[in-house]
Amino acid sequence: MSNQEIENNKENFFSQQDSIPNHVAVIMDGNGRWAKSRGLKRSLGHKAGMDQVKTIAKHANRRGVKALTVYAFSTENWKRPLDEVNYLMQLPVEFFDTFMPEIMEANIKVTMIGIPDKLPRKTKKVMENAIKSTQNNKGMVLNFAVNYGGRSEILAAAKDLAKDIAEGKKNPQKVTEEDFESYLMSSVLGEYQNVDYMIRTSGEERISNFMLWQNAYSEFYFSPLAWPDFNEKAFDEALAIYQKRQRRFGGV
Ligand code: FPP
Repeated sequence: MSNQEIENNKENFFSQQDSIPNHVAVIMDGNGRWAKSRGLKRSLGHKAGMDQVKTIAKHANRRGVKALTVYAFSTENWKRPLDEVNYLMQLPVEFFDTFMPEIMEANIKVTMIGIPDKLPRKTKKVMENAIKSTQNNKGMVLNFAVNYGGRSEILAAAKDLAKDIAEGKKNPQKVTEEDFESYLMSSVLGEYQNVDYMIRTSGEERISNFMLWQNAYSEFYFSPLAWPDFNEKAFDEALAIYQKRQRRFGGV
């Protein structure tokens, strides 16, 4: 979209700036089908998906989103063919090699949730470097879920809490939901840890072990578009739908 189109869209869609969701989480589905429908290899779908992360990160930041979590690789994705896994694992390297200047210019802060241990050395290093070099940035947080699974995150938090209880550092009777949240990997997102808007592309309507705790009260949006086609206009349309939702958090 041109800058003029982006501005026009903003005027058309958004009357109340304050109803922009703070934390948007995205299941970027449909890369493989996008590629197949064009007679391309699946890896080219993931490459196009990576380019769309750049576009949507810049756009979400411009719209005032505070945190954007993208599901780049799940704990279940290791089951894919080895060449696809290898391709997905080198995407963060390519992403930060090409996108770091724009990340710095937009003041975007990079964080990660997931288990880094199993990642190839180079992938782990590039994530660590990006997190370190953007740690003082004050714009939107771009949070990568890599080797991430919602259940394993909750289980790890429960184990850490149990350890602190066993060591007498916590009183089990006094543990609150907020205390528990501080044990989750997503605590890197601070006050924006819980998801406000969960977007899944490509017509699939399921949660796939993604941020199970954090999605407790989020609004859901399912787009028929494949992730590589989910452009700025599609994101604005999703935001416009969010603004029409009434969030009651269990109240009336
Ligand atoms: C699901 O589509 C997508 C993934 C498993 C990978 C998503 C990764 C990216 C979009 C790139 C991430 C970018 C960085 C910077 C790490 P699918 O392959 O399951 O699609 P299909 O259902 O059509 O086969």
